[in-house]
Amino acid sequence: NKGHYEHYMQKEINEQPESLTTTMRGRLIRRGSNIPKSVLLGGLKDHLKTIRRSRRIVFIGCGTSYNAALAARPILEELSGVPVTMEIASDLLDREGPIYREDTAIFVSQSGETADTLLALQYALDNGALCVGITNTVGSAIARNTHCGVHINAGAEIGVASTKAYTSQIVVMVMLALAIGGDTISYQARREAIIDGLFDLPNKVREVLKLDQEMKDLAKQLIAEQSLLVFGRGYNYATALEGALKVKEVALMHSEGILAGEMKHGPLALVDENLPIVVVATRDACFSKQQSVIQQLHARKGRLIVMCSKGDAASVRPNEHCRVIEVPQVEDCLQPVINVVPLQLLAYHLTVLRGYNVDQPRNLAKSVTTQ
Ligand code: UD1
Ligand code: F6R
Repeated sequence: NKGHYEHYMQKEINEQPESLTTTMRGRLIRRGSNIPKSVLLGGLKDHLKTIRRSRRIVFIGCGTSYNAALAARPILEELSGVPVTMEIASDLLDREGPIYREDTAIFVSQSGETADTLLALQYALDNGALCVGITNTVGSAIARNTHCGVHINAGAEIGVASTKAYTSQIVVMVMLALAIGGDTISYQARREAIIDGLFDLPNKVREVLKLDQEMKDLAKQLIAEQSLLVFGRGYNYATALEGALKVKEVALMHSEGILAGEMKHGPLALVDENLPIVVVATRDACFSKQQSVIQQLHARKGRLIVMCSKGDAASVRPNEHCRVIEVPQVEDCLQPVINVVPLQLLAYHLTVLRGYNVDQPRNLAKSVTTQ
């Protein structure tokens, strides 16, 4: 049921304040003023000790689910102190990469039925790793075959392009980082700030959704383009990959997410006055580096669209021709949840304006059950 929306993708983008609320329901604990706030993930509580003691955490997934894990990687590393590595499921299988008994392998999959992810799960089980699932589908193969896990509870996702599952996956993995991190004193203020940020996140998503008309206007400007680049780094490297994935899969426009730190190692050669480039430059530890990326792209006459934190337009915009998307600022590790929303809206409007099928992009299936 699409309600008053024209497409499922549009409905699912707009229901993210509610889906995120459901994802967090009963899992964030704010007791009294003297007791620290904490996180309770029922499915993991008996396994946290083992996960903390593992030698490495390996995230395994495909497509959008891989991107969600990439967004959560920095906070998991920071709070757990355990090395975190990333595997695209098919690539792990192609290489038969090393997985050990001392590893915790975390399988991220909206459907819980993706063939590559399932085969990688079988491979990790055979190698003796602790296998954890993060899935949206109760009773799915990944939920059944992992040792433990967390349901993201985002509600059924019907549009082939994953939107609300992406943001709920990130939130679950941030909660997972808080749960694994335990309650060391040195991280207490940081942890509490993140938990407060999680409580307020649905409101902030509601706020960013108000950019809908602005993104539609931007889509009108980009309707006939061949290509769109998206630059991000740190927490928002994932935003760049995910924004580009949305644009290519539904709007059928070539788009590439680029790690901004790699700009000078090749991508800079593409920059001219015609190619549109989105630069994600919201406030976090990478902000000044992104400011210099903007300067360098501007020096090559790049056609820039800069995403920045509210109030920062003047400090990021190299001149008045540069388009700016201002988004609400949240805790750094939650910023990817906010930043992806305008890019989801952009991909949606581009698709409608270009006349393509939003909910069933050509050649794609919701659940990829073959290799
Ligand atoms: C569970 C109930 C929820 C109830 C809550 C009350 C289910 C599905 N969930 O939620 O309805 O409101 O208790 O306390 O009945 N699991 C895996 N692999 C996965 C995902 C989950 O093994 O990929 C396992 C978990 O380890 C856990 C079980 O499935 O044993 C349920 O997980 P989850 O729904 O996340 O647990 P709760 O949030 O505690
Ligand atoms: C993109 C998209 C795909 C899926 C991928 C993994 O919008 O939906 O990239 O994310 O096929 O699917 P799941 O998460 O079901 O394993």
